[in-house]
Amino acid sequence: MPELPPALISTWQQLGQTLGLAQSSAIYATVSAAHIVGIALLFGGIAPVALRFLGGMASLGEAAVRSLQRLAVGGLVLAAGTGVLLISVKPADYLASPVVWAKFALIATATAHALWFHWVRRRSRVPVLDSPGAALAASGAASLLLWLAVIGLGRWIAFAV
Ligand code: HEM
Repeated sequence: MPELPPALISTWQQLGQTLGLAQSSAIYATVSAAHIVGIALLFGGIAPVALRFLGGMASLGEAAVRSLQRLAVGGLVLAAGTGVLLISVKPADYLASPVVWAKFALIATATAHALWFHWVRRRSRVPVLDSPGAALAASGAASLLLWLAVIGLGRWIAFAV
């Protein structure tokens, strides 16, 4: 597991103290709720698009797919921002956990996959939704599995740290 510099860990912890997350369960619960809203927006955007790529949800057109993808990006930004704040309560403990690092690795993999896929689709300029092929279906399945695994690891953290 990577070792972060002690100065970074103590600055991170200071952030939690300054914002009151460490002292107030109401503030912590609010940030935690916002984290869950971010997850809901992310997965709520990803799931219908992935199912469309897998050949279902035929009524979803290009414009709807683009809107859902933007919703998912907003959800990811909210989940990542609030996630950084949640860690600030006890950064040394969280960052010593392999479950946390596995979650980071999967978030990075899932995000890289989404960016790569977006880039390929923009370059090809082919209206692939008309006849979703095996590559699109594989990408939809990978996306679903990766984000489900991130959700599973996120829940697991509570029992591992
Ligand atoms: C950089 C991004 C993220 C960071 C730093 C982060 C960090 C955290 C932390 C510290 C917790 C609290 C764990 C505990 O209970 O002690 C948590 C909970 C959780 N996270 Fe994240 N997270 C991030 C992004 C995400 C994303 C993108 C997802 C899902 C798509 C996700 C899913 C979850 C879930 C399901 C929980 C459990 C929520 C609950 O049961 O209250 N996280 N995360």
